[in-house]
Amino acid sequence: MKVLFISPEMEPLAKVGGLADVVGALPKELQNLGCDVRVIIPLYNQVKENLQSLKLKAKNLRKEIIVCLDWLPFKGDVMEATLNGLTLYLLKNDNFFNREQIYSTPKGDYQDNDLRFAFLSLGALEIAKALDFKPDIIHCHDWQTALIPISLKWRRHVKDDPFFSGSKIVFTIHNISYQGLFPREMLEKLGLPLYLFTPQGIEFYGKASLLKGGIIYSDTVTTVSPNYAQEIKTPEYGNGLDGVLRLISQDSNKLVGILNGVDYEAWNPKTDNSLYLNYGNGDVNGKLKNKIELQKELGLNTEEEKPLLGMVSRLTEQKGIDLVVETLPQISDLGFQLAILGSGEEKYVRMLDIAKQRYKGNLSVVFGFHDEFARRIYAGSDMFLMPSRFEPCGLGQMIALRYGSIPVVRGTGGLLDSIRDYSFDRKNGNGFVFHDFSKVSFLDALTRALLVYENRREWMGLMERAMQEDFSWKRSSERYLELYKRLKGSNQ
Ligand code: ADP
Ligand code: GLC
Repeated sequence: MKVLFISPEMEPLAKVGGLADVVGALPKELQNLGCDVRVIIPLYNQVKENLQSLKLKAKNLRKEIIVCLDWLPFKGDVMEATLNGLTLYLLKNDNFFNREQIYSTPKGDYQDNDLRFAFLSLGALEIAKALDFKPDIIHCHDWQTALIPISLKWRRHVKDDPFFSGSKIVFTIHNISYQGLFPREMLEKLGLPLYLFTPQGIEFYGKASLLKGGIIYSDTVTTVSPNYAQEIKTPEYGNGLDGVLRLISQDSNKLVGILNGVDYEAWNPKTDNSLYLNYGNGDVNGKLKNKIELQKELGLNTEEEKPLLGMVSRLTEQKGIDLVVETLPQISDLGFQLAILGSGEEKYVRMLDIAKQRYKGNLSVVFGFHDEFARRIYAGSDMFLMPSRFEPCGLGQMIALRYGSIPVVRGTGGLLDSIRDYSFDRKNGNGFVFHDFSKVSFLDALTRALLVYENRREWMGLMERAMQEDFSWKRSSERYLELYKRLKGSNQ
């Protein structure tokens, strides 16, 4: 089974959020299951830096590709690197990809994101052809790669290309709130026929939506948890695309929810080099040492019995930062400490900056993207907060479990598929869940968690159970393989 992954992010080379974790882990697992997987990502300057720090070399394959966009030819070089036995192709065009950030700066998205990711999508097809890699499955991730299914159906010189006649397309939605919306003129720039600009096509409330095209023109759409697959068919969670998703779901196999896993090698408190001290399941002292050192590093009062909440998050509306800030007086009154690491929108940075001054000693906020520091928060915190408004899957809660930090989450999306409330199920519970997006409901979950925390023996038991959970990729990668096989079979 030949599988081609195309993604705008991949751990450990280019990461903004969980998409990178998924693309960093799933191809390896599929390879272990016998697939021949190749991954294509852009050669951002972050990728260049990370390759260097990992002491990995990228080789220029001397196969220049050309993609025409906006009536101009754009050239790209194909670099090859091997990461843990997996072959990656890095698409090089410094004009598009040698930027300070991946998608946006604090001022907003890069203005030419349509062209940048069109270049990735069409470039990926050119790479497959230049290397004569005929994929059985083309697995696309998020709107940045949606031009692939759209083009294979509609773009001049690409549609009906016999090279891809044996390829089926799987399109994974990691987050339906990012849709790749552009003005109507995008169609012409990307070489698409203007008649696609209808409600049956890729028109979306006056704009052109790449994500919508990805959904309609792929063979199968997957999303990253079974619960989110249901939620996005409702107006509450569908971001305007619920109708389209209900429509494609009439074919029972076309929309599938598969829960993400976590790379259990990359995230392992027994071997993680970033921790103050490595620890395994049941090693209460090892975990405590990490907590005390974290309190010191962050300038928090070093009171080991105080429950320490952790949060590692993109700072966006999705993640419920505002709910945390609103609830801070009560969180502090209840005796919690809180350590936040986040990067993202200016508005949340400002909110947290003010709060940080007020709750000095009990609240620490660090801005920026710091992988090693994130790991120390997972290890040093007693509980991990994910009060998300919506959460397609969420990896934070699964990583937290692995590090023995008990998740306190809002019951939405993949959080509901992975966290079972301990207050209501003492035998199987692995965290605390609240349902309404409200202070009262959030505080209720925190109070329930606190009551258990105060009973040290009970808390240790809960921590041990959390660390024994299996959210590795094993089961989920098998489900992807089944899906690929079914699609491939339907082709023969
Ligand atoms: P999302 O993809 O919506 O951001 P997930 O929970 O699926 O949420 O994945 C987030 C991933 O990004 C986790 O691996 C988390 O540890 C990491 N992460 C988020 N923010 C930061 C940050 N500021 N610094 C380091 N890692 C971060
Ligand atoms: C998105 C979602 C997150 C999910 C991740 C990986 O960024 O917000 O919930 O875990 O993608 O699929």
